[in-house]
Amino acid sequence: MPAASARTLFVTTALPYANGPFHIGHIMEYIQGDIWVRFQRMQGNSVHFVCADDTHGAPIMLKAESEGVSPESLIAGVAESHRRDWARYLISFDTTHTTHSAENVELAQSIFRALNRRGLIATRTIAQFYDPIKGMFLPDRYIKGTCPKCGAKDQFGDACEVCGSTYAPTDLIDPYSTLTGAPPELRESEHLFFRLSAPEVVDYLKRWTTAPAPRQTLQPEVFNKVQEWLGDEGKLLADWDISRDAPYFGIEIPDQPPGAPKKYFYVWLDAPIGYLAALKHHFDSGAARALGETRSFDAFLDDPAVEQFHFIGKDIVYFHTLFWPAMLHFSGRKTPTNVFVHGFITFSGEKMSKSRGTGISPQRYMDLGLDPEWLRYYIAAKLNARVEDLDFGPDDFVARVNSDLIGKYVNIASRAATFVTRHFGGALGTPSESPADRESRFETAQREAEAARANYEAREFGKVLRDAMRIADRINEAFDAAQPWNLAKDVGQRDRLQTICTQALEGFQLLTVMLAPVLPQVASRVARELFGLSRDFVWSDASKAPTRVNAFRHLMTRVDPKQMDALLDLQPDATLAAATPPSQGATTEAAAESTQERSATGTASTQTRSEITIDEFGRIDLRIARIVSAEAVEGADKLVKLTLDIGEDAPRTVFAGIKSAYPPAALVGRLTPMVANLAPRKMRFGVSEGMVLAASGAGPGIYLLAPDAGAQPGMRVK
Ligand code: 2FM
Ligand code: ZN
Repeated sequence: MPAASARTLFVTTALPYANGPFHIGHIMEYIQGDIWVRFQRMQGNSVHFVCADDTHGAPIMLKAESEGVSPESLIAGVAESHRRDWARYLISFDTTHTTHSAENVELAQSIFRALNRRGLIATRTIAQFYDPIKGMFLPDRYIKGTCPKCGAKDQFGDACEVCGSTYAPTDLIDPYSTLTGAPPELRESEHLFFRLSAPEVVDYLKRWTTAPAPRQTLQPEVFNKVQEWLGDEGKLLADWDISRDAPYFGIEIPDQPPGAPKKYFYVWLDAPIGYLAALKHHFDSGAARALGETRSFDAFLDDPAVEQFHFIGKDIVYFHTLFWPAMLHFSGRKTPTNVFVHGFITFSGEKMSKSRGTGISPQRYMDLGLDPEWLRYYIAAKLNARVEDLDFGPDDFVARVNSDLIGKYVNIASRAATFVTRHFGGALGTPSESPADRESRFETAQREAEAARANYEAREFGKVLRDAMRIADRINEAFDAAQPWNLAKDVGQRDRLQTICTQALEGFQLLTVMLAPVLPQVASRVARELFGLSRDFVWSDASKAPTRVNAFRHLMTRVDPKQMDALLDLQPDATLAAATPPSQGATTEAAAESTQERSATGTASTQTRSEITIDEFGRIDLRIARIVSAEAVEGADKLVKLTLDIGEDAPRTVFAGIKSAYPPAALVGRLTPMVANLAPRKMRFGVSEGMVLAASGAGPGIYLLAPDAGAQPGMRVK
């Protein structure tokens, strides 16, 4: 039960699209939000931490269609994967929900009606591209054409990737729908707009961003950006198109003229309302009551003392600092106290990209058995309150976990507790310490806990961990200087031995409390198993003296650099086969590309995989390749480096796991089909730019495919 003076917080992270599994950027945000929330709970504050899947919009509708399933079934499958990862990464949401819910329909429609009553919804006719074959208006991302500036072909509707110019989709030369290839028609349709440019809205947003309530100071980078958007007189704000025409997977806009075609809320209108829908579900399901909250959902949100915070990425600041507060304010609701914006996560200094094969998969991380608390620690160590990108460096990760977390922190307990259990039956005490020294040590601990408290509150997690490691260094140095292993040999030094070990363990308790928001599982085990508490630590335990310890039990292992290699897909095939769960290990395709080839286990199944459509098959660009050269790859037993001519200006490099079947020299000059549009994959030996095809069965043997005589390099295989 929260203390009377405690704060009440409603906290969210951004709602993830329900179109696929999480990438590492999602996990970073959940870890950031979760650390802050766990810290707040340790302070005795009452926190309602919720999330939901963001389920609506054209991409999800089209993805479901291409997979031959209903959108409902697609989002249900994704929700399961999301829930699993939240649990695996120890993200302590109190409730998770979905924007495709009765609560969201009710809230979105009621907010819309309230805005309409305030005269803030306008109707306008707009001209938009329409795909006559698909029978739908096309979002910009589904239109391509020739760049009007430089003439580059196949450029997106908003910007040219070749010359960098930006334009409207209607400026494209020879535009086509990426869904069907049809030339789109310009058609008119009536859309609804939220009048963001209305003077009262601009005034309000200026007030919300510049005269903040307590705890509402925007981060300087966010503040500057918002001021830019608002312009001198807010003249730069455009009204916001909030409607989409059928077909659309979304929430129907109510109160439309009878007989008019159905309209739906644009996904970005109902997504943030999903924060409230999740909170409503949290109340209606009894979860809020279980946390000691006795009020109704409405009464809770009517209380100005309740603070509302959203953790978000830097790409969605516009929605959260302009649309969202305005929607809430003008529909008569509580507005966010603040939004906390983070940067992106990069990988060894580069943008993570699934298609280029750079970065790490959070699912693979867990499937390989890596410890989620390592990643939580590493990310926390690099997070601060600024809108800065955070770089994941594999070597840095191993060093920080092994040297800092294990070498400095865990080490204290394993060394000191062993002496105390062996020589003092677990009893702690500082008989050889003067009261003045003890008092001074206690004051230092209080000061350090207070600094950590302030840093957590300000989301300066890196500072907390840097301070914690300094404290750990100090404890380890004092412990080593006292040479307890020598004290233990001398009965006359018993008091000194107990004092030294107790000082180290008191410091370890302080550190564990400081680290508890980051390492919830380790901290819980330290509280319960080592110090024998019947509860987890709260913040005030930081400067309390424990009275006894139980025998030390192993807390955390070091990262094996091989695990990092496996995570980064750099390990030899056999390791991967052993480390890959069965669901991913047994494949039936006759692909012999690099690490995906699994002849090491020889477990090709005779079952075929699930059905695909002809369109899906058509997305694979199969070409005839001529093997120009082939060479063994040093350090990789199974790989051959192939140079392939497919009629392009430059040859392709492909690493194929076929060395056991073909000496490289025997391959030169052969023709073979290759997948030409496979995303390049970065491997230890270089980038693999495609995949050659080979057959294999349950037994040994790999058989490269070959076309009939007459085929030429570059020919399409279909
Ligand atoms: O950018 C995104 O991933 C969105 N799904 C975030 C939505 S946050 C909130 F508004 F729901
Ligand atoms: Zn161009």
